[in-house]
This record gives sequence, structure tokens and C-alpha cells, in this order.
Amino acid sequence: MADYKAIYQQKLKTAAQVAEMVESGWVFGMDAAPTQADGIMNAIAEHVRNSDVKGLKVHLMLDGYPFPFLADDSLDGKMNGVSWFSGGGLRKAVNGGYADLIPGYYRDFPGVIRRMYEYDAYVVSVSPMDSHGYFSLATSTSYSQAMIDKAKRIFVEVNEKQPRCLCGTQLHVSEVTAIVENTHDMPVLPPTKIDETSKIIGGYIAEQIPDGACIQLGIGAIPDAVGAALMTKKDLGIHTEMFTTSMVDLLESGAANNSKKQIHRGKTVTTFAFGSQRIYDFINDNPCFEILPVDYVNDPDVICQNDNFISINAALEVDLFGQVCAESVGTKHMSGSGGQVDYVRGACQSKGGKSFIAFTSTAKGGTISKIKNILTPGAIVTTSKNDVDYIVTEYGIAHLRGETLSSRAKQLIAIAHPDFRDELKFDAKKRGIII
Ligand code: COA
Repeated sequence: MADYKAIYQQKLKTAAQVAEMVESGWVFGMDAAPTQADGIMNAIAEHVRNSDVKGLKVHLMLDGYPFPFLADDSLDGKMNGVSWFSGGGLRKAVNGGYADLIPGYYRDFPGVIRRMYEYDAYVVSVSPMDSHGYFSLATSTSYSQAMIDKAKRIFVEVNEKQPRCLCGTQLHVSEVTAIVENTHDMPVLPPTKIDETSKIIGGYIAEQIPDGACIQLGIGAIPDAVGAALMTKKDLGIHTEMFTTSMVDLLESGAANNSKKQIHRGKTVTTFAFGSQRIYDFINDNPCFEILPVDYVNDPDVICQNDNFISINAALEVDLFGQVCAESVGTKHMSGSGGQVDYVRGACQSKGGKSFIAFTSTAKGGTISKIKNILTPGAIVTTSKNDVDYIVTEYGIAHLRGETLSSRAKQLIAIAHPDFRDELKFDAKKRGIII
């Protein structure tokens, strides 16, 4: 066996040494939050501040760290982000003009990267090298392989706290340009607060989920509340874009065991995992956990192969046609499409499957109805009127797919907050859509 430890030592550098290799115009690629390499990126930002290097772009999604290039005037024009899906920092950076945005379906990203982009460096946080010379990209492998295939160089940051996934994208030490050691706590999300309203919504959806169903939970407080409401179920399966803390609860309690899945039976399938240290402990060396590329995991034709597939996602507003906005508040950028549409479609194609878009009926202390006659100008349609299936608020469930416009409007008004129902009814009648 080759002496991989010797190769590792030859490639070992400090983050500052890696930063000194960078030249103007370089484009960097990173995957979702937990495999982002903050040590290397911070060193590059520092190098850029103190040199003539400029025109750097960093492609990433769901920022896991407060990267300086997302909010620093001294780096603007010298080093900017490009969001494939925004977390909190990218959201502010896009709205503030520090970062650009690539709209798209998450499942398409690997194909788009392979067709359209080249990376001067792919930068990634990995688990320690194993005896065969492999580093695991345990926590996020969504479009990593596509970026690796299109990268001139690969910089890895070894974090001893990065879990190792037995089934997922791996990088061999021979492929790597430089290695930096940087062990620190993994990024986590603040725990979501599940209030009474979210619990009611979670309860409505839980009633619709049979034992043995296969679930996907999206991003946000409501999907987390649904996860909490499923603890009394049996034999659930998990096939999801993002693996969350509530799924660890379901698996550890035995409510989920993947035993009834038609594909990947016995395994939890995801494309990235983010939220808490409990998630990382769960993944580490777990033979029942598969973290696979997003063009496979989020493909509706793959999703629908599991029977009784139930997808649960959140939204910001919905109009009376059932057009779902989950990406902006008017023109203000909030998020990306992610896998919402892929899971709505996959669930609706699955035998016995259903898709739920759930949200509290109002925003901003009850002053704004999230069910609207027409969408706020600038609102981005994520899930179309043709794809939408069930909409849920704390006032009940509306089933829209295949329903007439009049039925959609009546059902949506019935689950709007009572303070807004008269106005919505008036507007709908004025438009002639209630008959
Ligand atoms: N009008 C004005 N403001 C609104 C609003 C509306 N209709 N709806 C929400 N808001 C505000 C909230 O008050 C909150 O403001 P704050 O940050 O000042 O408290 C903010 O917008 C976020 O709303 P919230 O409901 O707390 O969002 P969330 O964290 O639960 O996330 C999405 C909701 C839609 C942004 C999130 O689910 C998402 O990114 N979805 C798109 C992608 C997707 O579904 N992927 C699925 C696969 S993982």
C-alpha cells in the first residue's frame, strides 16, 4: 500500500500559504454549510485585503459561517459570493449587493455546473484521512462531485470533528492540491422554537401521514414541528434533501426505521445534513446513512419510487390560484427554490403520496395574511399552481391539486386567518373567481 501519510505530509500547508497561491479572477466552489472551509476562506479574504488580488468569486449555498466576503465593504469587488441557495448571511449579501444569485432547481445544479462552470479551486472541509487515503465529505455531497470534476485544484481543510460517512462522496489524497488542518466545532443552527401554532399545523399534517410512509421535511420551523408530531408513528422512512435534528429524534425513537421503503430499504437517504451536533454524531460511521448527490436524491423519478411519499415544505405566501412563493417577500430575496418543487412533484407521483406546503396564516404579528388574493409584486413563484397539492395553516388543510379555481379560492379563504377572510372573499368575488 502506498504511503498515504507521507503524501499527506507533503501536501500539508497553513491556510495563509494556500491563500498566497490565489490569483486575481479565481472562481472558488463550495457545497452546503457543514462542508464549507472557513479557515481557508478567511485566510484568502485576509490575503485579498492586503494585496492587489481582485475579482474573486465564491460559489456556495446555505452559508454555514459568517464569511467576510458576504458583508465587508473592503472586499466588495475584490471577493464576492455567488449564492446557489441562501442562508442568513447570503440572504443579506444578495439584498445588500455583495453577492450574486443563480436561480434554479437544486437537483439541476450538478448538471449546470458540469455544463457551464469551471472552478480554479474547490474548497472543502473533510473528516480525517482513513488508512486508504480517503477523506469523507460526510455532511454535504449535493453538487460536490460536479465541482470536483470541474476544479483545477482541490484545497481540503481537515476537521477532526467532521463526521465520516460510509456511503457518500470521498476524496483521495492523491487528488488533493493542498491540505490545511483546522479542527473546530461543526456549524449548527439555532434550535427552532416550536410554538403552539406550529404544533397545531404539525398535528394536522401528522394525521395525514400513515405508518410506513416515507417522508421529506424541508427547511424552517413548520417542517421541524411536523417532525416533532410524528414521534408516535411507526416504520417511517426518510428520503430527504436536508437531514435535520427532528429526523435524528424519529430514528432514535424507532418511529422511523426505513423498513417499508421500496428503494434504499433500511437506509436513510439525504444530500446534506445540517442543524446540530446530534446530527453529526448520528452520521459518523453509521452504515444506515447514505448521503448522495442531489441530482439523484432530488430527482422526482427517484423520489416517487417510495410509496406513500409525504413531502412537507414551508412558504412565505400563496395566492388564490395556489401559486406558492417560498423565496422572497415581495422583491426582497429570502431563499432559493431548493428542492421544494422536486419533492412536491415526487410526492404527487408516488403511489399514495401527498405534498404539503405549510405556514402560519399570518406574518408580522398578525398584520399580514400569507394567503393573498394576488401575490405581492415581486414575489417569486416557487411551486406553480399546476404542481401544488395541499396547503396547511393553523386553520386547517386545503386540497388544491385538480380542484377548480373556485374551490381553491373557497378552501384557501377558509384556512386564512379570520381577520382577513372577508377581504379575501370580497376580492375573489370581485374577480369573479368564486362561483
Ligand atoms: N410577508 C412578510 N414577511 C413575511 C411573510 C410574508 N408573507 N412570511 C414570512 N415573513 C417573514 C417572517 O416574519 C420572518 O421575519 P423575521 O426574520 O423578521 O422574523 C421571515 O419572513 C422568515 O419567515 P419564516 O416563516 O420564519 O421562515 P422560515 O425560517 O420558516 O423559512 C422559507 C421559510 C420559505 C424561507 C424556507 O422554508 C425556505 O427557504 N424554503 C424554500 C426552499 C424549500 O422549500 N426547500 C425545500 C427543501 S429543503
